[in-house]
Amino acid sequence: MSDEPKSKNITWHHGDVTQADREKCHGHKAAVLWYTGLSGSGKSTLAQAVQTALFERDCETYVLDGDNVRHGLNNNLGFSPEDRTENIRRIGEVAKLFADAGIITSTAFISPYRADRDEARKISGDMFCEIWVDADLAICEERDTKGLYKKARAGEIPEFTGISAPYEEPKNAELVVNTGKDNLEECVKQVLAMLTEKGILS
Ligand SMILES: Nc1ncnc2c1ncn2[C@@H]1O[C@H](COP(=O)(O)OP(=O)(O)OP(=O)(O)O)[C@@H](O)[C@H]1O
Ligand SMILES: [Mg+2]
Repeated sequence: MSDEPKSKNITWHHGDVTQADREKCHGHKAAVLWYTGLSGSGKSTLAQAVQTALFERDCETYVLDGDNVRHGLNNNLGFSPEDRTENIRRIGEVAKLFADAGIITSTAFISPYRADRDEARKISGDMFCEIWVDADLAICEERDTKGLYKKARAGEIPEFTGISAPYEEPKNAELVVNTGKDNLEECVKQVLAMLTEKGILS
């Protein structure tokens, strides 16, 4: 899909309240925390736990989660490569809008294609932090929190990441957390440490 809008008769209207104004008011910088990894690797669990930790520090924060977004905004999209790309493009744009509102925005989508994640990175620029939630397929399959691996192995789910569709591992993630090795509390600490190191939290 082209980056150019379909209509030629639209003009960007600049707001009087800037992102910097909002960040000052919130007491922290805005960011897009892009969690990526296999199903069951722990993206949602970790994104929610980090959100709670940030909320307790009075930060403005929100999680855009895969299945929830597929119930609404993206309910016309499936799991073909084209639909996955459009899914991620829309999330990338929504995450940018949330971050523009000064919010530490997390997204928890498998987002298996490197090119799609790179597009999302382009959309949010410097605010983008890719967090690879790394866990071996065997661990994710053993967890099988949604029972999806069992169905995928039985051939009931086509194009299932890790089984019948690829997961392209990140090459330049800002952070890699290993949920097979470190517990949730430890992983949350690693994300918060990255946010402090990047000056998003002071
Ligand atoms: N360190 C950890 N961080 C996050 N989750 C962990 C960790 N250790 C174990 N888990 C467990 O792993 C499971 C991860 O499930 P979760 O739904 O968060 O995965 P997901 O990546 O969001 O999957 P999906 O792509 O299907 O939504 C949970 O049962 C969680 O308790
Ligand atoms: Mg999830």
